[in-house]
Amino acid sequence: MKFVLAPLAGFTDAPFRRLCYEGGAALTYTEMVSAAGLAHGSSPTRHLMETMPGEGPVACQLFGSKEDELAFAAREATLPRFCELNLNAGCPMTKVTREGAGAKLIEDPEKIYRLLKAMVENTTLPVTLKTRLGPHPGHCNVFELLDAAERAGAKGLILHARFTSQMHGGTVHLDRLAEVVSRAKIPVTGNGSVTDAKTAAEMAKTGVAAIMVGRAALANPSIFRQLQGDAAVDGVRPVERHLRYLLEFRDQLAARFPHDHLPSADGFASVKMHTHLFRYFNGRPGAAALRARLNTVRTLSEINDIIHGL
Ligand SMILES: Cc1cc2nc3c(=O)[nH]c(=O)nc-3n(C[C@H](O)[C@H](O)[C@H](O)COP(=O)(O)O)c2cc1C
Repeated sequence: MKFVLAPLAGFTDAPFRRLCYEGGAALTYTEMVSAAGLAHGSSPTRHLMETMPGEGPVACQLFGSKEDELAFAAREATLPRFCELNLNAGCPMTKVTREGAGAKLIEDPEKIYRLLKAMVENTTLPVTLKTRLGPHPGHCNVFELLDAAERAGAKGLILHARFTSQMHGGTVHLDRLAEVVSRAKIPVTGNGSVTDAKTAAEMAKTGVAAIMVGRAALANPSIFRQLQGDAAVDGVRPVERHLRYLLEFRDQLAARFPHDHLPSADGFASVKMHTHLFRYFNGRPGAAALRARLNTVRTLSEINDIIHGL
């Protein structure tokens, strides 16, 4: 089975994707990139599209609600560094749905068709759709979404087997996922609360072509290898490699975007490692004290102290 890393806004930047690739992920996704942001020339949006040496295959995820912006974004993202472009039609966050994007699109399969078509017509890369079962359990329209994707020329469907109303919790509807797999003419990747060998085996039974893992990778970027039965121990611990890659990536951004104001290495590492470190030491003895300490971390040397104390 192929295991892939989910797009996770705020987390799946180049350093973390590189860690997950080393941890066995067959494919990783960028954080969602705003088509409107690209169309308006936003530099922070461009940073989200950066990859770094040592990464494996990377797909670029776009979000938006306008055909012309997605057409433009698809052209901009057609880069040798990417192997696939993906349309986000599943994010339930208000700042995305109020623009008519993300999960809002689920209510309008024909709009998904038009947006995907705009992407397909403006890239040479395969285009895929990431979506959910429908707006809520009383309205399961995933077969219409699948039909829209197939008609538009999408080369794959990634299905988070929950409804928008469930956000990121509650039952993962594997029965529905299996039905979608059996009807689809394009490969289906399954997604939703795969955390270990047991949940992966249950999802594999639906016949999916690949399994996408999100939150479980945050504390354990080697989960992809473990799910494939490879218990090989890493040399340098992920947390140490993570810091190293972050610093390399900051240097790369500074060189590639010399006119952008980037935080210092101290600031960059503190902000970025802050969110990740919380997860790395979750459940360990002394986690509460470490968490309190993390909130005050401002320098690289303080981060190194914490990492070496883990
Ligand atoms: C913090 C966070 C950020 C996310 N960001 C994105 C995103 O940028 N694009 C997207 O399609 N889904 C996003 N998702 C949804 C995940 O990709 C995935 O579908 C969801 O977490 C279910 O998978 P999991 O149970 O393995 O985590 C996000 C989820 C979380 C928790």
